[in-house]
Amino acid sequence: MQTNLHGRDLIGDLDFTKEEVETVLDVAFDLKRKRALNEPTPYLRDKVLAMLFFFSSTRTRGSFEAGMAHLGGHAAFIESTTTQIKHGDTSTEIGEIYGRYFDGIAIRHCDWALGNQYINEVAKASRVPVLNMQCDIYHPFQCLADLMTIMEKKGRDLRKKKIVVSWAYAASYLKPISVPQSLILQMPRFGMDVTLSYPKEFPLMPEIEAAAAEQAKKFGTKFDIVHDMDEGFKDADVVYAKSWGPLLTTTDAAEGKRLQDKYKNWMTDAKKMKLAKEDAIFMHPLPADRDVEVTNEVMDGPQSVVFDEAENRMHAQNAVMALTMG
Ligand code: CP
Repeated sequence: MQTNLHGRDLIGDLDFTKEEVETVLDVAFDLKRKRALNEPTPYLRDKVLAMLFFFSSTRTRGSFEAGMAHLGGHAAFIESTTTQIKHGDTSTEIGEIYGRYFDGIAIRHCDWALGNQYINEVAKASRVPVLNMQCDIYHPFQCLADLMTIMEKKGRDLRKKKIVVSWAYAASYLKPISVPQSLILQMPRFGMDVTLSYPKEFPLMPEIEAAAAEQAKKFGTKFDIVHDMDEGFKDADVVYAKSWGPLLTTTDAAEGKRLQDKYKNWMTDAKKMKLAKEDAIFMHPLPADRDVEVTNEVMDGPQSVVFDEAENRMHAQNAVMALTMG
């Protein structure tokens, strides 16, 4: 067990080794059990986390804020438009200054071609751990919660289990590509066969797809890309179907919407779930476009694990914070 995570950043999914992720999961399961027993977990007493948001959130804000309180510390919610960032505070200054006030800096910055770079710049200047609450490339805490949830439902040995990471249609907005990218990077390390499914205009970053293939080779699993939702769902143990924008094809919002609207039939419904294994689980990080991305019948049905997934955000994050900020 690798336990020396003190002071470490978590920005990309592969920043922690597989053994370190296993440590995170062990701690997360322990924290979840302790919370169920109402046992105190004051591992970060008197510590303060800065939560700097450049993008809206329901789960991420709530779970980090509640999580810090459960660990005996405090989280400061800082909405970027209320700061002096637009008047000139640079990423380096944020890292340098907030690193002196706080014991950890968590950032959500999803702007395409900006977010990940910004978080890395803050991390370079910061003396405390920097945690990625979602950027344009990665959503590592969502992925840790997803892994934890899959293990709860399917067991800790995930070898030969198939996960389909599928694009789905949404009408609300062009969603970031960070969730599918994190999933295809992390899941092969835990033995899962990954099928990535999307219409041809919706690829992920080529270097991330290549890195996922490399992880699959390293860990002896499968990594396939298909362009048909039904084919992707076939015999899956885990169905993870969500929308993302065609950012590698166009960054023009109107053109992106036009491309998205070509694929309104890419919706998860009971018929599509029947293509997966009988005991397959349905996952989604939320928010979902109900009856557009996925039917209410599936979202609220017996195969859906979306609320356990949302809960596990907090336990997985608490584990990382306790290990890195303690
Ligand atoms: N899944 C997730 O990150 O949710 P929020 O956008 O509400 O934080």
